[in-house]
Amino acid sequence: MRKTVLILTSSLMIASMALAHNGVKNPAVMARMQGMEQIGAASKVLGNMARGRVAFDAEAAASAKAALAQHAAEIPVLFEAQEDDPKSEALPAIWSDFADFTAKADALRDAAEAMDVTSTETIAAGMGAVGGVCRSCHKAYRE
Ligand code: HEC
Repeated sequence: MRKTVLILTSSLMIASMALAHNGVKNPAVMARMQGMEQIGAASKVLGNMARGRVAFDAEAAASAKAALAQHAAEIPVLFEAQEDDPKSEALPAIWSDFADFTAKADALRDAAEAMDVTSTETIAAGMGAVGGVCRSCHKAYRE
């Protein structure tokens, strides 16, 4: 039963990811969007726990934290080349100030690594810092 649910959940996730990226033709843009989707998914797991929408689960929290830090660390490589696609929301400012952009990516990785995932309260505090970094980068570099 559990296995069926898991398979269903992951195929739904793949379906919704494919839908979100419908029409993206540039594989480099697709890859960086998928990296962001992973960051979004890990943040959602932690955010839901922080808000008490789902019960605290130490293992799920630790793996979401690790995924968040790992995908944050991949941002500079995924965005290094100035690739474009009609569906992209990335602003050209990324490549005119790539040092600042990567500093924000580093700040996200650091905030994820620093997050204490041993309780709902500490996750909530950590997600406050993480959310601030998402917003500051999107404000500067995403349409
Ligand atoms: C270093 C800058 C930076 C940081 C930090 C950052 N993002 Fe993004 N994000 C972007 C850019 C740029 C795009 C647009 C990419 C594109 O469309 O080519 C984006 C796009 C996205 C998308 C849309 C992906 C898609 O399917 O098109 C989601 C979801 C997302 N970010 C979530 C997050 C969350 C959640 C965080 C924080 C936990 C975060 N991002 C942190 C730069 C950043």
